[in-house]
Amino acid sequence: MKMDELMGNPESMQISKIITENPHSKTLLFSLKNQIKFQPGQFVMVWIPEVDEIPMSISSWNPPEMGITVQSIGEATQALISMFKGDWIGIRGPFGNPFSTNSKNALVVGGGVGIAPLRPLVYRLLDRGAEVTLVNAAKTKKELIYFKEFDNLAHPNLRVEIATDDGSLGFKGFATEAVAQLLDENDFDRMYTCGPELMMAGLYNLAKTIKIRFQASLERFMKCGCGICGTCAMDPTGQLVCADGPVFTGEQLAKLANFGKYHRDVVGMKKEC
Ligand SMILES: Cc1cc2nc3c(=O)[nH]c(=O)nc-3n(C[C@H](O)[C@H](O)[C@H](O)COP(=O)(O)OP(=O)(O)OC[C@H]3O[C@@H](n4cnc5c(N)ncnc54)[C@H](O)[C@@H]3O)c2cc1C
Ligand code: FES
Repeated sequence: MKMDELMGNPESMQISKIITENPHSKTLLFSLKNQIKFQPGQFVMVWIPEVDEIPMSISSWNPPEMGITVQSIGEATQALISMFKGDWIGIRGPFGNPFSTNSKNALVVGGGVGIAPLRPLVYRLLDRGAEVTLVNAAKTKKELIYFKEFDNLAHPNLRVEIATDDGSLGFKGFATEAVAQLLDENDFDRMYTCGPELMMAGLYNLAKTIKIRFQASLERFMKCGCGICGTCAMDPTGQLVCADGPVFTGEQLAKLANFGKYHRDVVGMKKEC
């Protein structure tokens, strides 16, 4: 494989549109010059000139237009959401293993900005004729992302459930509690999730109890994004989140000691989830 290909064919792009999703999150859209293949769940490495390069899920896919949804938590994400239409960023990718779209009755659970990689998944599942129940969960109503978009969609195969920790909209409580109720009343063949890792670990336990297929998209600190540096290795299998994930199945998660427990920071020190 050529070096450029391995590194994800770096491309510079101009931001063509910015959508404010909530007080801390924006969706940035740009037009691809090169044709790339994408499957829901994959991510890109985004270079912010003079700041950093960070992993971001592809949240919008309408070639040649592509988008990412960024939540500001530190220097690089703050710099990204402070950008304007016409500013330049660099993109490499897409990288990683996608979600399997082999489902007829899917339960999709997004917590906070974790809903970003699930957005293209929901559309792909609907295109394939699946029934989809989407749980869009956030701390408060103000923090919800894509709320209006999915609310206005009115697709006959899509049911949207909102869960907020403070009860400002929809179910009052954690996403795991909302999902436990849904599982009592419905039969799903697969659960998909992305969001805070403690939430995903709770959902994994629910899926395991009732024996339905499970896929979760994990986040770990990344440097290369393409399997070279080893920064994103999971314990004890050594699987790389960038190359073997970010989407892992329930069977794979069962073997990962750090899922739901800890991750490693920039210098490799353990930090609790
Ligand atoms: C595959 C993948 C896809 C991602 N997709 C998205 C996305 O679609 N939208 C989005 O907003 N974010 C996404 N992220 C997370 C994003 O990359 C980080 O928030 C970003 O790198 C933080 O950079 P920063 O300089 O703003 O913050 P920093 O200053 O680097 O960090 C601020 C704080 O956040 C913590 N942190 C940093 N990176 C991560 C991480 N990866 N996971 C958990 N905590 C972290 C740090 O320990 C620190 O406490 C994704 C991460 C991965 C691995
Ligand atoms: S980030 Fe370098 S191997 Fe995954």
